[in-house]
Amino acid sequence: MYLPSFSTALADSAFPFNWIHDTMRLFVVYLAAFFTVSPPTIEAQGSSSSGEYLVGLGIGDVTGPVVETNMMGYASLPQTDTGLHMRQRSRAFIVADASNPSERVLFINSDICMGDTGIRRTILSSLQSLYGDLYTPANTALVGTHAHSGVGGYLENLLPQVTSLGYVNATAAAIVSGTLKAIADAHNSLAPGNLKLGNTTLLNANRNRSPSAYLANPKWERAMYEENQDTTVTVLGFENMDGDATGLLSFFPVHGTSLYENNTLVSGDNKGMAAWMYESYIEPSSMPGNNSFVAGFIQSNVGDTTPNTLGAYCESPGKPWDGQPCEFEHSTCGNRTEDCHGRGPGFRISDFESNRIIGQAQFEATRTVMEDSNMTAVSGSVKSVHVYLDMTTYTFTLPNGTLAKTCPAALGYSFAGGTTDGPGAFDFVQGDNSSQSQNPFWEVVKRFVTPAPSEEQIACHYPKPILLNSGYNHQPYDWSPGTVDVQMLRVGQFVILVMPGELTTMAGRRMRDALRAKLIADGVLDNRAYVVIAGPANTYGHYVTTREEYSVQRYEGASTIFGPATLEAYINKYSELVPYLAKGATGMPSSNAAPPEQTSKAISLQTSVVVDNPPIFKHFGDVLVDVESGVYHAGDTVAVRFVGANPRNNLRLEQTFLTVDRQTDGGWMVVRTDSHPSTTYQWNRTSKALGTSTVDIRWTIEDGTPAGTYRITYYGDSKSLLGSISAFTGDSSTFTVG
Ligand SMILES: *[C@@H]1O[C@H](CO)[C@@H](O)[C@H](O)[C@H]1NC(C)=O
Ligand SMILES: *[C@@H]1O[C@H](CO)[C@@H](O)[C@H](O)[C@H]1NC(C)=O
Ligand SMILES: *[C@@H]1O[C@H](CO)[C@@H](O)[C@H](O)[C@H]1NC(C)=O
Ligand SMILES: *[C@@H]1O[C@H](CO)[C@@H](O)[C@H](O)[C@H]1NC(C)=O
Ligand SMILES: *[C@@H]1O[C@H](CO)[C@@H](O)[C@H](O)[C@H]1NC(C)=O
Ligand SMILES: *[C@@H]1O[C@H](CO)[C@@H](O)[C@H](O)[C@H]1NC(C)=O
Ligand SMILES: *[C@@H]1O[C@H](CO)[C@@H](O)[C@H](O)[C@H]1NC(C)=O
Ligand SMILES: *[C@@H]1O[C@H](CO)[C@@H](O)[C@H](O)[C@H]1NC(C)=O
Ligand SMILES: *[C@@H]1O[C@H](CO)[C@@H](O)[C@H](O)[C@H]1NC(C)=O
Repeated sequence: MYLPSFSTALADSAFPFNWIHDTMRLFVVYLAAFFTVSPPTIEAQGSSSSGEYLVGLGIGDVTGPVVETNMMGYASLPQTDTGLHMRQRSRAFIVADASNPSERVLFINSDICMGDTGIRRTILSSLQSLYGDLYTPANTALVGTHAHSGVGGYLENLLPQVTSLGYVNATAAAIVSGTLKAIADAHNSLAPGNLKLGNTTLLNANRNRSPSAYLANPKWERAMYEENQDTTVTVLGFENMDGDATGLLSFFPVHGTSLYENNTLVSGDNKGMAAWMYESYIEPSSMPGNNSFVAGFIQSNVGDTTPNTLGAYCESPGKPWDGQPCEFEHSTCGNRTEDCHGRGPGFRISDFESNRIIGQAQFEATRTVMEDSNMTAVSGSVKSVHVYLDMTTYTFTLPNGTLAKTCPAALGYSFAGGTTDGPGAFDFVQGDNSSQSQNPFWEVVKRFVTPAPSEEQIACHYPKPILLNSGYNHQPYDWSPGTVDVQMLRVGQFVILVMPGELTTMAGRRMRDALRAKLIADGVLDNRAYVVIAGPANTYGHYVTTREEYSVQRYEGASTIFGPATLEAYINKYSELVPYLAKGATGMPSSNAAPPEQTSKAISLQTSVVVDNPPIFKHFGDVLVDVESGVYHAGDTVAVRFVGANPRNNLRLEQTFLTVDRQTDGGWMVVRTDSHPSTTYQWNRTSKALGTSTVDIRWTIEDGTPAGTYRITYYGDSKSLLGSISAFTGDSSTFTVG
């Protein structure tokens, strides 16, 4: 670990950091130069096509620093990354009306935990300088897959930065550059095409992790559904004019928590796995991320879902309740939350096996829909609508005529207890009173904690007991968002509710049903209307439960930050915007002001790499522990250890830290990269004083791997004391797969 001393950190961080701004601007200038070389081609295509839509797809690498950086999702200080399982990607999907191509939507699905205001703002301003008014806040959606094994530190609000020791520029920059690359590829590939829609049921790939809260919903309402979680996989398929599939969007709710809180290898979790499986199924010989078929696996009403389908059990060695299911209402073991852990389907083997199973289930279900001949054609207008909504004081009328309002953000006590997917999240809360806090960032910001919520704030959030009155914390910058993005995208009869948070199962059903009914009642669509939820998107507004679930105050209710009327407020506002989705609708709805820019105020305590050195008499890339001799077979793992250097020196975006190479008549051929799930890359700083480190590369040989001679190559970059970065490579000895 790389914690800076507290006093330097404070001195360094006491001032606004304008360089982030400047850097982003420079970066946009750089990209603009890049795009002059490869001009947009959309104007040339226009309406000469015979398809109803123009469609374009792209993919880009968004993997931030894979070591020495906190991971995003579990909010666990010890979960600092140490290497790579699979790269995180952004996938971009553009659909334009062929007869009026400026009517278009840009849907970005990114293997990040959630969309973010600052990232979205930077992307939109880059798009403005690259493409003028084609991509706007209204038609561009930034949706996270909710992976909990990605690199952290990119969110603009303070609260999610606590465990990442503040803002991590390198993570944000990687997300922005990779997403812009994906968008550029989508934009430049825009061509006539068609869309189709279908669904299927997928059982045993998700489960409700807060069933006691779900039970608070009315009995008549629960009786309308067989399960306490949604089991529908909805697929929007993309086709070219030859009728060949070119990509898809697949919507299914399941938390990105297949990989546990104790995993430290960066990965896309189960959605990233499903996407890779689909893409490599279509293009088996493309390296990951170098595919043209793009498969987006989208999160929907994910709030109370878990991929830990076996249920939650006590891991309390020596206690009578060890191995028993956790207590039902509070998910505790002997009154403690820390010991209660959800178990995935691969539990007996590993969380990586669970991740594979849940990823594969989503892949197979989606494939079933795509390859079934009964998908429905999509037709009709391409429309979008977006407003900023100030959720701190939104006042509106409920359907029963009562006035309701939302509240400035606050988190309840159960928030600190975490979930069965990641118990005891935000442990820093318990450290807030201690002079020995483990977290230097918390030491910097804790003095800004608002003393106590007002009577009005307490009443507004009732019955939530307020733990963190984050909506009143604006110092050194906003702890939680106050203003969120309300957005809908329409492609023919298909409407995507782009949500700034995580809706629970029942909240999502209410939201979808209300909006579908409104679309039909307003004559925007007929009963073909098909409505899905995508999120957490654009701004992270935490959770959204039903009012009844809120009254139970489990983790999801405690994390419904704008109070008990949050869901009703969203239903009200989204419904109000439905007319803007009508064919030929014009005009702009009135909007609150955009949330304030905060990235320039961000505090960042992550220090840069000091120096890399090889041990005495060695060189970077030298083999320290070679592959074993003898013949390997499918299922075996080949391992090699190199003299390494810090991978933060060069993220190698769109490249790789390793290859597995096979000997052919024409020389060495790359057959695996660091993004294949069969390979892992692990870095270890063996001496901070000397600057030495090692890299371990492993390859677990898949079934069907051709027999032959192979080697493993490591690609590294070392930093000298003066700061220059030099690339190097290292090869293992050759080995035989029989
Ligand atoms: C922030 O990220 C950008 C893009 O990678 C990089 O050029 C810049 O040097 C970074 N700034 C700092 C202070 O690390
Ligand atoms: C699945 O699609 C069918 C046919 O369009 C539709 O009737 C059904 O409501 C869909 N299921 C869900 C859960 O939306
Ligand atoms: C369409 O195909 C899906 C997936 O195979 C299946 O679940 C569904 O029942 C089919 N619908 C009809 C109307 O045949
Ligand atoms: C990670 O956590 C899970 C769930 O608590 C546990 O079963 C597993 O043994 C842990 N793995 C390691 C390597 O500690
Ligand atoms: C990516 O694909 C392109 C075109 O298909 C090919 O020329 C290139 O070599 C591929 N790159 C890698 C790393 O496989
Ligand atoms: C848990 O708390 C309950 C109520 O306070 C108490 O009766 C019970 O003994 C506690 N159980 C354990 C194992 O501490
Ligand atoms: C209207 O609904 C709200 C929320 O469920 C409830 O609190 C209120 O009492 C209801 N008002 C009437 C007049 O029924
Ligand atoms: C905070 O510290 C004071 C003084 O040590 C102690 O009395 C109090 O119980 C602590 N509060 C919490 C929440 O730990
Ligand atoms: C990292 O290196 C240190 C020093 O050699 C060693 O003690 C430690 O076990 C290594 N960690 C791992 C995960 O290999």
